[in-house]
Amino acid sequence: MAIDIARDIHWVGVVDWGIRHFHGHELSTHRGTSYNSYLIRDKKIALVDTVWDPFSSEFLARLRSIIDPSRIDYVITNHSEPDHSGCLPEIMRLCPNATVVVSPRGATSVPGHYHAQWKFQQVKTGDTISLGERTLTFVEAPMLHWPDSMFTYVSPDGILMPNDAFGQHYATAFRFNDQVNRDELYQEALKYYANILTPFSDRVVNKIDELIGMKIPVNMIAPSHGVIWRDDPLQIVHAYREWALQQPQKKAVILYDTMWKATRRMAEAIGEGLVAEGVGFKLFHMATTDRNDAIAEIFQCKGVIIGSPTLNNGLLPTITPILEDLRGLSFKNKVGAAFGSFGWSGECIKEIEAHLERSKIPIVAPSVRAKWQPNEADLAACRQLGQQVAAAILKD
Ligand code: FEO
Repeated sequence: MAIDIARDIHWVGVVDWGIRHFHGHELSTHRGTSYNSYLIRDKKIALVDTVWDPFSSEFLARLRSIIDPSRIDYVITNHSEPDHSGCLPEIMRLCPNATVVVSPRGATSVPGHYHAQWKFQQVKTGDTISLGERTLTFVEAPMLHWPDSMFTYVSPDGILMPNDAFGQHYATAFRFNDQVNRDELYQEALKYYANILTPFSDRVVNKIDELIGMKIPVNMIAPSHGVIWRDDPLQIVHAYREWALQQPQKKAVILYDTMWKATRRMAEAIGEGLVAEGVGFKLFHMATTDRNDAIAEIFQCKGVIIGSPTLNNGLLPTITPILEDLRGLSFKNKVGAAFGSFGWSGECIKEIEAHLERSKIPIVAPSVRAKWQPNEADLAACRQLGQQVAAAILKD
């Protein structure tokens, strides 16, 4: 069933209850997701984004419940990633004379995906398209989160359609933020930000300030995933601005893997050191922890402490992906430390230290390494490491 979000503006997307991994296997989606597409009926008819192509039948049925798709005049493609543009070929088969509206970077990425001879119109920030009573105004949002990303603003309704920004991988029976569990909603919105948008945080701040500077009324924010923000819609804008400033909480996360519990015992002793100084922590066994959940926790913590046994002159393979994430996500305002156990060579510490340095996370305590199982002195050193990291967390 299509959902009216304003007079003659309809949600025609799909809810994907079953997806548990997104971007191939890169991102976990424990609560599923939705692919939101919006239909605007005026003298001219515009469709804002489509959905992922495995859902084309459901999408077209929902669209047809409102109009004959051949009547669409504009297909606004805010972003070319296939979860939103996947049904573009199907739509363009039904309305071959429609104009595909893209950002300047979308003018290469959309044809790059579909290699089709459609009628394209490039729009830059501030460009408008009149639909009749309504006007669409476009705002380029490069790297939020692809170079082609763009926001579409619908006036006079005051509805911002920012594609991925302000979205959540959150499948729900309802379409609006005031109808769902607030804790779940924010958990998913933060996880989305931490895992996808963190590296572009400076751009997020600038874009939000640009939007606020435009002084446009925002009555609703309708992203391309999850629920629509209609109750106090700017709350998510303010949350994004706060997240983008990356001022983490004074707590720590310990990430480790273990073979015969030596590294685990070290991790627990480090936790004792943190708590002794009044700093809370979470301890994640990376062999059994979802990587994206760990990233969401790291995002919120000032301290990041990582441990591994040495295996084959390096790290346990379960630790390497999170270290790559730390590098790629460019977290700011963190402090770090390394620890690990070994039997005969002990390279794991050097590897973790190198990764922390590459990720620009300063190491604030001497690393602790234990040969075979940690003895009392090793565990005391771990507690001291925890206390030193706690001191760095509590500083200023
Ligand atoms: Fe939801 Fe960047 O696609």
